[in-house]
Amino acid sequence: MEKKAKTVAILGGQWGDEGKGKIVDWAAGYFSVCARATGGNNAGHTVYLKEGKHVFHLIPSAITWEKVDCLLGNGLVIDPFVLLQEIKVLNEKGYTTNNLFISGQAHVILLYHKVMDLSLEKAKGTGKIGTTGRGIGPPYADKMHRQGIRINDLLDKKVLYEKIIQNLIDKKSSFDTDNFTSKLLEVIPADHFFDFLRQEIQSLGNKPSLSETAQLLTELYFSAGKKIFLYVADIHQKLDAAQVLGKNILLEGAQGLLLDIDQGTYPFVTSSNSSLGGLNTGLGISHIDEVYSIFKAYTTRVGSGPFPTEINDETVQYLREKGQEFGSTTGRPRRCGWFDAVITRYASGINGPKAIITKLDILSGLKTIKICNSYRYLGPKRLFNGEIYFKGKIIRDFPADSTIL
Ligand code: IMO
Ligand code: MG
Repeated sequence: MEKKAKTVAILGGQWGDEGKGKIVDWAAGYFSVCARATGGNNAGHTVYLKEGKHVFHLIPSAITWEKVDCLLGNGLVIDPFVLLQEIKVLNEKGYTTNNLFISGQAHVILLYHKVMDLSLEKAKGTGKIGTTGRGIGPPYADKMHRQGIRINDLLDKKVLYEKIIQNLIDKKSSFDTDNFTSKLLEVIPADHFFDFLRQEIQSLGNKPSLSETAQLLTELYFSAGKKIFLYVADIHQKLDAAQVLGKNILLEGAQGLLLDIDQGTYPFVTSSNSSLGGLNTGLGISHIDEVYSIFKAYTTRVGSGPFPTEINDETVQYLREKGQEFGSTTGRPRRCGWFDAVITRYASGINGPKAIITKLDILSGLKTIKICNSYRYLGPKRLFNGEIYFKGKIIRDFPADSTIL
């Protein structure tokens, strides 16, 4: 890289888990600022710190570099309790979080969003997305419906109550209100850190009224807001100032291109823009100098949806064991497949041509390594993106739609 100050982005080029966290952890030493723009604690970025393995979900892995300011942009959805737990764990390991800054405009994941995430999945049955269950989609839907709750709202009890009660009224029909307390309890993580939350929700009793529920949620999220308040900042302004001062900025992507709500394998995607565009909208940043897409030397996917190069023989076991291909957020075994050059071509058109390939060493014990350079369409004749798709058609340009793939 040239000596001139730069804003550099690291993005996932496949279905996530390409090794973004590792690259950011390594590269962060060359940067003054590291920012994340989209997603939430559906991400799981595994790095090896001196204390051993550590999985980051919300906070950029660069936080361990004390001199690097770590920013969470307006494009994220943040579960305040998960954030506080992540901060606590880092502090206990001896890492300061004084270098963490969070956008007041980021949206909040509340417990009822997690209830909705799970019940939407259940309703889809075999067509389920296979979400991480972290309540990511519903707050993004609220944001688009213009009824979301933002981090800044946590700091004003009256505003917060009004927004929560309105949301509960609007969503009433999608909740099993008779069993609401038990539904809320179901989505609280088992970890001891969340015991206080469990006790508070239990205190609601069997059939709380909407206003009782809203009051308790307001108290809980207001108290979380008071703890988060010290970290809240104007992220766009901080990035702008850093660029004016000629500081190096690293942008840490989450998820991957094919999980992007617009460019990915819709509807088997996440609910945010995990491609290049998400960095602009999720941070309010105007200028990015270099964009690197990260690809694994093979392909993996967690959750449902099309996967053209998926392997269905014993090679999966080999890759999964050797590459430790288990979801770092949910622990689910990852589906594994061969390297797919149709995807890399697609990624270069959307995120730009620069690529970094990780985990090549995992392939080293295999006798045969396959690379896909085109697909053969096998479905019924149909029109898609202005083209006729017929049985046997060779596809070189990635069709971002689960009904074609
Ligand atoms: P990182 O940042 C891999 C997948 C889920 C599911 C779909 C939608 O570690 O690469 P969601 O909970 O977001 O509504 O689930 O997206 N998914 C990921 N897969 N890595 C991730 O993040 C992911 N974040 C979401 O498995 O298929
Ligand atoms: Mg991951």
